[in-house]
Amino acid sequence: MNPLIAPSMLSADFCNLGRDIQMVNESRADWFHLDIMDGVFVPNISYGLPVVKAIRTMAEKPLDVHLMITGPERYVSDFKKAGADILTVHYEAVTHLHRLVWQIKNEDMMAGVALNPHTPICLLEDILPDLDMVLIMSVNPGFGGQKFIQNSLRKVEALREMAERLNPDVMIEVDGGVDDETAPKLVEAGADILVSGNYIFKSPNPMQTIEGLKSIEFE
Ligand code: DX5
Ligand code: ZN
Repeated sequence: MNPLIAPSMLSADFCNLGRDIQMVNESRADWFHLDIMDGVFVPNISYGLPVVKAIRTMAEKPLDVHLMITGPERYVSDFKKAGADILTVHYEAVTHLHRLVWQIKNEDMMAGVALNPHTPICLLEDILPDLDMVLIMSVNPGFGGQKFIQNSLRKVEALREMAERLNPDVMIEVDGGVDDETAPKLVEAGADILVSGNYIFKSPNPMQTIEGLKSIEFE
């Protein structure tokens, strides 16, 4: 089997967004990863609903929306209407996570929960059976192009073990600093989905870079 590849459009060329969407459409990538940042939960501001809606009109693959915002429960329906297929919220940004996960699932989207690098996976014990996906942040969220935090590998391994016990179907996604060096290690540790921004879009041939990530094999 091969991992799913989700190029992060944060690293796309916004003056040529249509061209970059088309490249992802024609590549072996599986999902579009869209990072929504509010300048409060994370220090950066990215883009919002109108841009997601515009991407939806051209994208021929599922939209994997990663909300780095406070109070994400206020926007579930809006992101559904904008075209999200997978909606991921941060554990650290939510008080009533169980309610929110079901709000997302009841809107017919896959529900993901993201963990910051300092948040231990043991906090997921009681919510894991309800989740479709867990997103392990391997950098501090907010910016593309940051250095991979090595401890993330151990975290993915431990989460895979925990998933065997509590929810074998849950998918594990990793986001931040994914490149040709970290990707094979992550896949071996148990990652199903690799998000990659800078490594793909700043490479001389993004389609070929995606092909390289997609070709990683695992049992
Ligand atoms: C970071 C975002 C990532 C980011 C990844 O907060 O969640 O999706 O775009 O970019 P790279 O792959 O460049 O680390
Ligand atoms: Zn992301």
